[in-house]
Amino acid sequence: MKNITGLRCVSCGKVYGPEELDYTCPDCGPRKGTLEVVYDYESSGKEFREKVKGSFAEDIKNYSPLLPIDNLENLPPLEVGGTPLYPFHELTDKVNEVWIKDDSGNPTASYKDRATMLAVAAAREKGIDTITCASTGNAASSLAGLGAASGMETIIFVPKSAPEAKITQLLVYGANVFAVDASYDEAYDLALKAAEKYGWYNRSAAIHPYLVEGKKTGGLEMADQLDWEPPDRVFVSVGDGSIVSGLSKGFKELTRIGMIDDPPKVIGVQAEGADTIASTFADYTGGDVELQEQKASTMADSIAVGKPRDLVKAVKYVYENGGEYMTVSDAEITSGLTELAQKRGVFAEPAAAAAYAGFKKALSEGKFNGDESVGVFITGSGLKDVDAAKKGVNDPKEIPPELSAVDRVLQQSH
Ligand SMILES: Cc1ncc(COP(=O)(O)O)c(C=O)c1O
Ligand SMILES: [Zn+2]
Repeated sequence: MKNITGLRCVSCGKVYGPEELDYTCPDCGPRKGTLEVVYDYESSGKEFREKVKGSFAEDIKNYSPLLPIDNLENLPPLEVGGTPLYPFHELTDKVNEVWIKDDSGNPTASYKDRATMLAVAAAREKGIDTITCASTGNAASSLAGLGAASGMETIIFVPKSAPEAKITQLLVYGANVFAVDASYDEAYDLALKAAEKYGWYNRSAAIHPYLVEGKKTGGLEMADQLDWEPPDRVFVSVGDGSIVSGLSKGFKELTRIGMIDDPPKVIGVQAEGADTIASTFADYTGGDVELQEQKASTMADSIAVGKPRDLVKAVKYVYENGGEYMTVSDAEITSGLTELAQKRGVFAEPAAAAAYAGFKKALSEGKFNGDESVGVFITGSGLKDVDAAKKGVNDPKEIPPELSAVDRVLQQSH
């Protein structure tokens, strides 16, 4: 790949050639040895600055100098990225500005399309036509949809308990679906074994170094939309830790190539019942990251991850970035979801609403000085899990088709 100088192991630091291997460092193994894509920042930076000159072009391809792709023709023929950034004035008495980056408008309705587009392009570049992944649901529907658009066969492993809409999406896109009667963490390990046995290309979280690259594009885009003056702090929800890593890396790279002055601090928000990364980070003081895991339990299914696969990057990158982690309860997620929909018209799935809930919690704990600007990433659509959304609202008023019934209900509610 012309703009990449190497793939560096995030734990031992060994650097591999850009085409030398597909997945993780053989010396360190899958979870510890995730690889990071290193660019030739001088030439890529120059090319990047040239491409993004002028106004926001709503085209993710403009960021290609900082993406692992040579031939843009290999991207799936769907519009990934270019999602809206909404100001949220309601809250600006306590902070200077709030921006909601609504990624539910991606082709398969989640942020995951940003990573999948690069995995699909990489597979096409290699002439591979079968891809697998394990996922809590969104990476899966993303792979199924973008794979379908690119004429690829997809083999998906999801926990049987994934919300019905996500599983239906997979089936409608024509994926081969294994609904595994186990947690996401177990489905992940099964997909890893199956991919090795059958030689399938693997897009499961963290295993492929390009995924984090795709996940940084939401941050590049947010900075671009704000004329390269991104917010001081950005909130994002965290499961395996790839999005939070991608955002931290992307902002660092923008700083390095002189596009922005200071990287925004990235605040990773986890569910209280699935907080492996937050708790590992709490004890981290630099150096090696100790691999930890737990049994996950949260209603926010997309971030119900106990054995996060991008733990090392998520801890190291956020530490370097000066960001932090926090947790929110399921009740805080539900009220955040409802509030965001009712006050800003953005309908998030629980995992996505966790980022907003984290911001609200930080606000209520007085963590802002009043002049700061804030970005919140909404990473998935509320339509993906309506049963969870229903928990925050009342049932509709059922009536016969008579005006008197309307009158009666109106009187009762006054
Ligand atoms: C809607 C949504 N938000 C956030 C996340 C967390 O992303 P990551 O696993 O990269 O931490 C996911 C992952 O599935 C997701 O689907
Ligand atoms: Zn290594």
